[in-house]
Amino acid sequence: MNTYAQELRATAKAMIAPGKGILAMDESNHTCHKRFEKLGIDKTVEQRQAYRELLLTTPGLNEYISGAILYDETIRQFTRKEVPFTKVMADSGILIGIKVDTGAKDLAGHHGEKVTEGLDSLRDRIAEYYGMGARFAKWRAVITIGEDIPSWACIEGNAHALARYAALCQEGGLVPIVEPEVLIDGNHSLERCYTVTEETLRTVFDQLFCQKVAFDQMILKPSMVISGLACPIQANVEQVADATVRCLLDNVPASVAGIAFLSGGQSNERASEHLNAMNVKYKSQCPWSITFSYARAIQQPALEHWRGNDANVAAAQQLLLHRAKCNSAASLGQYSAEMEKTPVLV
Ligand code: G3H
Repeated sequence: MNTYAQELRATAKAMIAPGKGILAMDESNHTCHKRFEKLGIDKTVEQRQAYRELLLTTPGLNEYISGAILYDETIRQFTRKEVPFTKVMADSGILIGIKVDTGAKDLAGHHGEKVTEGLDSLRDRIAEYYGMGARFAKWRAVITIGEDIPSWACIEGNAHALARYAALCQEGGLVPIVEPEVLIDGNHSLERCYTVTEETLRTVFDQLFCQKVAFDQMILKPSMVISGLACPIQANVEQVADATVRCLLDNVPASVAGIAFLSGGQSNERASEHLNAMNVKYKSQCPWSITFSYARAIQQPALEHWRGNDANVAAAQQLLLHRAKCNSAASLGQYSAEMEKTPVLV
Protein backbone atom coordinates (compact mmCIF):
# COMPACT_ATOMS: atom_id res chain seq x y z
CA MET A 1 0.00 0.00 0.00
CA ASN A 2 1.10 3.57 -0.68
CA THR A 3 2.79 5.00 2.44
CA TYR A 4 0.90 8.25 1.87
CA ALA A 5 -2.54 6.58 1.59
CA GLN A 6 -3.88 7.81 4.90
CA GLU A 7 -2.57 11.33 4.40
CA LEU A 8 -3.97 11.43 0.86
CA ARG A 9 -7.42 10.38 2.07
CA ALA A 10 -7.36 13.06 4.77
CA THR A 11 -6.23 15.73 2.29
CA ALA A 12 -8.92 14.76 -0.22
CA LYS A 13 -11.54 14.88 2.51
CA ALA A 14 -10.40 18.35 3.58
CA MET A 15 -10.49 19.56 -0.04
CA ILE A 16 -14.18 18.77 -0.35
CA ALA A 17 -15.22 19.61 3.22
CA PRO A 18 -18.90 20.66 3.43
CA GLY A 19 -19.46 24.19 2.15
CA LYS A 20 -15.96 24.51 0.74
CA GLY A 21 -14.51 24.50 -2.74
CA ILE A 22 -11.18 24.99 -4.45
CA LEU A 23 -9.92 28.28 -5.90
CA ALA A 24 -8.19 27.68 -9.22
CA MET A 25 -5.62 30.47 -9.62
CA ASP A 26 -3.04 28.50 -11.56
CA GLU A 27 -3.20 30.31 -14.89
CA SER A 28 0.07 30.03 -16.77
CA ASN A 29 1.79 33.35 -17.49
CA HIS A 30 0.47 33.15 -21.04
CA THR A 31 -3.16 32.73 -19.92
CA CYS A 32 -2.76 35.29 -17.14
CA HIS A 33 -1.43 37.81 -19.67
CA LYS A 34 -4.34 37.20 -22.02
CA ARG A 35 -6.71 38.10 -19.15
CA PHE A 36 -4.59 41.10 -18.08
CA GLU A 37 -4.38 42.39 -21.64
CA LYS A 38 -8.16 42.58 -22.02
CA LEU A 39 -8.30 44.87 -18.97
CA GLY A 40 -5.24 46.97 -19.76
CA ILE A 41 -3.20 45.53 -16.87
CA ASP A 42 0.58 45.47 -17.35
CA LYS A 43 1.83 42.00 -18.27
CA THR A 44 4.67 41.94 -15.76
CA VAL A 45 5.87 39.67 -12.98
CA GLU A 46 5.10 42.49 -10.50
CA GLN A 47 1.45 42.64 -11.54
CA ARG A 48 1.11 38.85 -11.52
CA GLN A 49 2.53 38.85 -7.99
CA ALA A 50 0.24 41.70 -6.89
CA TYR A 51 -2.84 39.98 -8.28
CA ARG A 52 -2.05 36.63 -6.65
CA GLU A 53 -1.33 38.43 -3.36
CA LEU A 54 -4.73 40.11 -3.61
CA LEU A 55 -6.41 36.73 -4.01
CA LEU A 56 -4.53 34.88 -1.29
CA THR A 57 -4.77 37.62 1.34
CA THR A 58 -8.52 38.08 1.00
CA PRO A 59 -9.84 38.23 4.58
CA GLY A 60 -12.23 35.38 5.38
CA LEU A 61 -11.44 33.39 2.22
CA ASN A 62 -10.78 30.25 4.25
CA GLU A 63 -14.41 30.11 5.29
CA TYR A 64 -15.38 29.03 1.76
CA ILE A 65 -12.14 27.87 0.17
CA SER A 66 -10.39 24.66 1.23
CA GLY A 67 -7.43 24.91 -1.12
CA ALA A 68 -5.99 27.00 -3.93
CA ILE A 69 -4.20 25.76 -7.03
CA LEU A 70 -1.04 27.74 -7.79
CA TYR A 71 1.20 28.03 -10.83
CA ASP A 72 4.91 27.20 -10.52
CA GLU A 73 5.84 30.90 -10.42
CA THR A 74 3.25 31.63 -7.72
CA ILE A 75 4.25 28.87 -5.30
CA ARG A 76 7.71 30.52 -5.15
CA GLN A 77 6.45 34.09 -4.63
CA PHE A 78 6.16 36.31 -1.54
CA THR A 79 3.81 39.07 -0.44
CA ARG A 80 5.11 42.64 -0.61
CA LYS A 81 5.86 42.28 3.10
CA GLU A 82 8.06 39.30 2.18
CA VAL A 83 5.88 36.54 3.57
CA PRO A 84 5.96 33.45 1.32
CA PHE A 85 2.57 32.81 -0.29
CA THR A 86 2.83 29.25 1.01
CA LYS A 87 3.00 30.60 4.58
CA VAL A 88 0.02 32.89 4.01
CA MET A 89 -1.94 29.85 2.90
CA ALA A 90 -0.73 27.56 5.68
CA ASP A 91 -1.53 30.23 8.30
CA SER A 92 -5.09 30.55 7.04
CA GLY A 93 -5.63 26.81 6.69
CA ILE A 94 -5.87 26.86 2.90
CA LEU A 95 -4.30 23.77 1.34
CA ILE A 96 -1.59 24.36 -1.24
CA GLY A 97 -2.21 22.92 -4.69
CA ILE A 98 0.01 23.09 -7.74
CA LYS A 99 -0.58 22.82 -11.48
CA VAL A 100 1.94 20.28 -12.72
CA ASP A 101 1.03 19.87 -16.37
CA THR A 102 2.99 21.97 -18.83
CA GLY A 103 0.06 22.79 -21.06
CA ALA A 104 -2.13 21.44 -23.83
CA LYS A 105 -0.16 21.17 -27.08
CA ASP A 106 -1.23 20.30 -30.63
CA LEU A 107 -1.76 16.56 -31.00
CA ALA A 108 0.39 15.35 -33.89
CA GLY A 109 -1.62 14.05 -36.82
CA HIS A 110 -4.91 15.33 -35.38
CA HIS A 111 -5.78 18.79 -36.60
CA GLY A 112 -7.69 20.87 -34.04
CA GLU A 113 -7.00 18.57 -31.10
CA LYS A 114 -4.71 18.90 -28.08
CA VAL A 115 -2.81 16.61 -25.79
CA THR A 116 -1.54 17.76 -22.40
CA GLU A 117 2.17 17.41 -21.71
CA GLY A 118 4.25 17.40 -18.52
CA LEU A 119 5.16 13.82 -17.57
CA ASP A 120 8.92 14.37 -18.08
CA SER A 121 10.66 14.69 -14.71
CA LEU A 122 7.28 14.86 -12.99
CA ARG A 123 8.39 12.59 -10.12
CA ASP A 124 11.17 15.05 -9.21
CA ARG A 125 8.90 18.08 -9.52
CA ILE A 126 6.31 16.44 -7.26
CA ALA A 127 8.98 15.79 -4.63
CA GLU A 128 10.04 19.45 -4.78
CA TYR A 129 6.46 20.73 -4.51
CA TYR A 130 5.70 18.38 -1.62
CA GLY A 131 8.77 19.78 0.15
CA MET A 132 7.41 23.29 -0.42
CA GLY A 133 4.15 22.34 1.31
CA ALA A 134 1.93 21.37 -1.62
CA ARG A 135 -0.55 18.63 -0.80
CA PHE A 136 -2.51 18.36 -4.03
CA ALA A 137 -1.93 18.83 -7.74
CA LYS A 138 -3.81 19.48 -10.93
CA TRP A 139 -3.51 18.31 -14.54
CA ARG A 140 -5.95 19.56 -17.17
CA ALA A 141 -6.72 17.66 -20.35
CA VAL A 142 -8.69 19.38 -23.11
CA ILE A 143 -11.22 17.62 -25.33
CA THR A 144 -12.64 19.65 -28.21
CA ILE A 145 -16.01 18.87 -29.78
CA GLY A 146 -16.27 19.56 -33.51
CA GLU A 147 -16.97 17.88 -36.82
CA ASP A 148 -15.51 14.37 -36.53
CA ILE A 149 -13.75 15.18 -33.27
CA PRO A 150 -12.85 14.25 -30.61
CA SER A 151 -10.87 11.35 -32.03
CA TRP A 152 -10.18 8.21 -30.06
CA ALA A 153 -6.49 9.15 -30.22
CA CYS A 154 -7.19 12.41 -28.40
CA ILE A 155 -9.39 10.90 -25.70
CA GLU A 156 -7.15 7.89 -25.12
CA GLY A 157 -3.88 9.88 -25.23
CA ASN A 158 -5.14 12.43 -22.73
CA ALA A 159 -6.66 9.79 -20.46
CA HIS A 160 -3.39 7.86 -20.41
CA ALA A 161 -1.40 10.97 -19.46
CA LEU A 162 -3.92 11.89 -16.74
CA ALA A 163 -3.60 8.41 -15.25
CA ARG A 164 0.21 8.41 -15.34
CA TYR A 165 0.18 11.85 -13.66
CA ALA A 166 -2.30 10.73 -11.00
CA ALA A 167 -0.29 7.63 -10.12
CA LEU A 168 2.90 9.69 -9.75
CA CYS A 169 1.10 12.21 -7.53
CA GLN A 170 -0.17 9.54 -5.18
CA GLU A 171 3.29 7.96 -5.02
CA GLY A 172 4.69 11.36 -3.99
CA GLY A 173 2.02 12.38 -1.47
CA LEU A 174 -0.08 14.77 -3.58
CA VAL A 175 -3.80 14.26 -4.11
CA PRO A 176 -4.31 14.40 -7.88
CA ILE A 177 -7.08 16.55 -9.28
CA VAL A 178 -7.93 14.76 -12.50
CA GLU A 179 -9.37 17.33 -14.91
CA PRO A 180 -10.68 16.10 -18.25
CA GLU A 181 -12.32 19.24 -19.68
CA VAL A 182 -14.76 18.86 -22.54
CA LEU A 183 -14.73 22.37 -23.98
CA ILE A 184 -17.89 24.47 -24.08
CA ASP A 185 -16.81 26.11 -27.38
CA GLY A 186 -18.78 25.11 -30.47
CA ASN A 187 -22.36 24.72 -31.63
CA HIS A 188 -22.88 21.22 -30.26
CA SER A 189 -26.03 20.19 -28.41
CA LEU A 190 -26.35 19.07 -24.81
CA GLU A 191 -26.81 15.50 -26.07
CA ARG A 192 -23.54 15.59 -28.03
CA CYS A 193 -21.75 16.97 -24.97
CA TYR A 194 -23.22 14.10 -22.94
CA THR A 195 -21.92 11.47 -25.37
CA VAL A 196 -18.43 12.96 -25.49
CA THR A 197 -18.26 13.49 -21.72
CA GLU A 198 -19.36 9.90 -21.14
CA GLU A 199 -16.77 8.46 -23.50
CA THR A 200 -14.10 10.66 -21.93
CA LEU A 201 -14.95 9.72 -18.34
CA ARG A 202 -15.13 6.00 -19.15
CA THR A 203 -11.74 6.12 -20.83
CA VAL A 204 -10.20 8.19 -18.03
CA PHE A 205 -11.37 5.76 -15.34
CA ASP A 206 -10.22 2.74 -17.40
CA GLN A 207 -6.77 4.31 -17.56
CA LEU A 208 -6.77 5.33 -13.88
CA PHE A 209 -7.65 1.75 -12.96
CA CYS A 210 -4.94 0.41 -15.24
CA GLN A 211 -2.32 2.67 -13.58
CA LYS A 212 -3.51 1.58 -10.09
CA VAL A 213 -4.70 5.00 -9.04
CA ALA A 214 -6.61 4.85 -5.74
CA PHE A 215 -10.00 6.45 -6.45
CA ASP A 216 -10.58 7.36 -2.80
CA GLN A 217 -7.39 9.47 -2.90
CA MET A 218 -8.21 11.62 -5.93
CA ILE A 219 -10.60 14.41 -6.87
CA LEU A 220 -12.34 14.50 -10.25
CA LYS A 221 -12.65 17.94 -11.83
CA PRO A 222 -15.04 17.53 -14.74
CA SER A 223 -16.83 19.97 -17.01
CA MET A 224 -20.61 20.10 -16.84
CA VAL A 225 -22.77 18.53 -19.54
CA ILE A 226 -23.92 21.69 -21.24
CA SER A 227 -24.92 23.09 -24.66
CA GLY A 228 -22.06 24.49 -26.75
CA LEU A 229 -21.75 28.27 -26.47
CA ALA A 230 -22.85 28.72 -30.11
CA CYS A 231 -25.65 26.14 -30.01
CA PRO A 232 -28.95 27.81 -31.00
CA ILE A 233 -30.84 25.76 -28.40
CA GLN A 234 -29.43 26.36 -24.91
CA ALA A 235 -30.32 23.80 -22.25
CA ASN A 236 -31.78 25.32 -19.09
CA VAL A 237 -30.37 24.99 -15.59
CA GLU A 238 -32.41 21.92 -14.70
CA GLN A 239 -31.51 20.13 -17.95
CA VAL A 240 -27.80 20.77 -17.35
CA ALA A 241 -28.05 19.54 -13.76
CA ASP A 242 -29.99 16.42 -14.80
CA ALA A 243 -27.67 15.49 -17.67
CA THR A 244 -24.50 16.20 -15.70
CA VAL A 245 -25.45 14.15 -12.66
CA ARG A 246 -26.75 11.27 -14.81
CA CYS A 247 -23.47 11.22 -16.71
CA LEU A 248 -21.46 11.20 -13.48
CA LEU A 249 -23.59 8.52 -11.81
CA ASP A 250 -23.18 6.28 -14.86
CA ASN A 251 -19.45 6.75 -15.31
CA VAL A 252 -17.69 7.75 -12.09
CA PRO A 253 -16.88 5.12 -9.46
CA ALA A 254 -18.61 5.68 -6.12
CA SER A 255 -15.27 5.47 -4.30
CA VAL A 256 -13.91 8.68 -5.88
CA ALA A 257 -13.22 11.07 -2.97
CA GLY A 258 -15.07 14.03 -4.45
CA ILE A 259 -16.09 16.04 -7.47
CA ALA A 260 -15.12 19.68 -7.98
CA PHE A 261 -16.34 21.24 -11.22
CA LEU A 262 -14.51 23.68 -13.46
CA SER A 263 -16.57 26.62 -14.78
CA GLY A 264 -15.32 26.41 -18.37
CA GLY A 265 -16.46 29.83 -19.60
CA GLN A 266 -19.94 29.88 -18.04
CA SER A 267 -21.08 33.19 -16.56
CA ASN A 268 -20.50 33.66 -12.84
CA GLU A 269 -24.15 33.31 -11.92
CA ARG A 270 -24.79 30.36 -14.25
CA ALA A 271 -21.86 28.42 -12.74
CA SER A 272 -23.40 28.94 -9.28
CA GLU A 273 -26.93 28.08 -10.46
CA HIS A 274 -25.84 24.85 -12.11
CA LEU A 275 -23.87 23.69 -9.08
CA ASN A 276 -26.75 24.59 -6.82
CA ALA A 277 -29.34 22.76 -8.94
CA MET A 278 -27.26 19.57 -8.86
CA ASN A 279 -27.00 19.70 -5.09
CA VAL A 280 -30.66 20.61 -4.49
CA LYS A 281 -31.98 17.78 -6.60
CA TYR A 282 -29.37 15.05 -6.35
CA LYS A 283 -27.31 15.47 -3.18
CA SER A 284 -28.97 12.51 -1.48
CA GLN A 285 -28.48 10.24 -4.52
CA CYS A 286 -24.80 10.95 -5.11
CA PRO A 287 -22.05 8.93 -3.43
CA TRP A 288 -19.64 11.90 -3.64
CA SER A 289 -19.77 15.56 -2.60
CA ILE A 290 -20.15 17.91 -5.54
CA THR A 291 -18.43 21.26 -5.22
CA PHE A 292 -16.51 23.84 -7.28
CA SER A 293 -12.96 24.42 -8.41
CA TYR A 294 -13.59 27.51 -10.52
CA ALA A 295 -11.11 29.98 -11.95
CA ARG A 296 -12.94 32.46 -14.19
CA ALA A 297 -16.37 32.14 -12.52
CA ILE A 298 -14.90 33.03 -9.15
CA GLN A 299 -12.08 35.45 -10.02
CA GLN A 300 -13.51 37.49 -12.87
CA PRO A 301 -15.37 40.23 -10.92
CA ALA A 302 -12.33 40.75 -8.67
CA LEU A 303 -9.93 40.95 -11.62
CA GLU A 304 -12.18 43.36 -13.51
CA HIS A 305 -12.48 45.63 -10.49
CA TRP A 306 -8.80 45.54 -9.57
CA ARG A 307 -7.40 46.37 -13.04
CA GLY A 308 -3.90 46.58 -11.62
CA ASN A 309 -4.68 49.43 -9.24
CA ASP A 310 -3.65 49.16 -5.57
CA ALA A 311 -6.51 51.41 -4.54
CA ASN A 312 -8.99 48.77 -5.72
CA VAL A 313 -7.58 45.83 -3.77
CA ALA A 314 -9.98 45.83 -0.81
CA ALA A 315 -13.11 46.09 -2.97
CA ALA A 316 -11.78 43.44 -5.37
CA GLN A 317 -11.25 41.13 -2.40
CA GLN A 318 -14.88 41.68 -1.38
CA LEU A 319 -15.96 40.63 -4.88
CA LEU A 320 -13.84 37.50 -4.72
CA LEU A 321 -15.24 36.66 -1.32
CA HIS A 322 -18.76 37.19 -2.60
CA ARG A 323 -18.35 34.66 -5.41
CA ALA A 324 -16.67 32.24 -3.02
CA LYS A 325 -19.64 32.58 -0.67
CA CYS A 326 -22.19 32.11 -3.47
CA ASN A 327 -20.44 28.97 -4.71
CA SER A 328 -20.07 27.66 -1.19
CA ALA A 329 -23.83 28.04 -0.78
CA ALA A 330 -24.34 26.31 -4.15
CA SER A 331 -22.24 23.36 -3.00
CA LEU A 332 -24.73 22.97 -0.15
CA GLY A 333 -27.79 23.54 -2.36
CA GLN A 334 -28.46 26.83 -0.56
CA TYR A 335 -27.71 29.39 -3.28
CA SER A 336 -30.41 31.77 -4.51
CA ALA A 337 -30.55 34.77 -6.84
CA GLU A 338 -31.24 36.86 -3.72
CA MET A 339 -27.67 36.22 -2.59
CA GLU A 340 -26.39 38.20 -5.53
CA LYS A 341 -28.04 41.29 -4.05
CA THR A 342 -26.68 40.85 -0.55
CA PRO A 343 -23.45 42.71 0.18
CA VAL A 344 -20.72 40.59 1.74
CA LEU A 345 -19.84 41.40 5.34
CA VAL A 346 -16.37 40.39 6.45
O1 G3H B 1 -7.79 24.79 -15.85
C1 G3H B 1 -8.78 25.44 -15.63
C2 G3H B 1 -9.18 25.75 -14.27
O2 G3H B 1 -8.77 24.76 -13.41
C3 G3H B 1 -10.66 25.98 -14.21
O3 G3H B 1 -10.90 27.17 -14.90
O4 G3H B 1 -13.18 27.54 -14.03
O5 G3H B 1 -12.12 29.08 -15.68
O6 G3H B 1 -12.82 26.78 -16.36
P1 G3H B 1 -12.33 27.66 -15.26
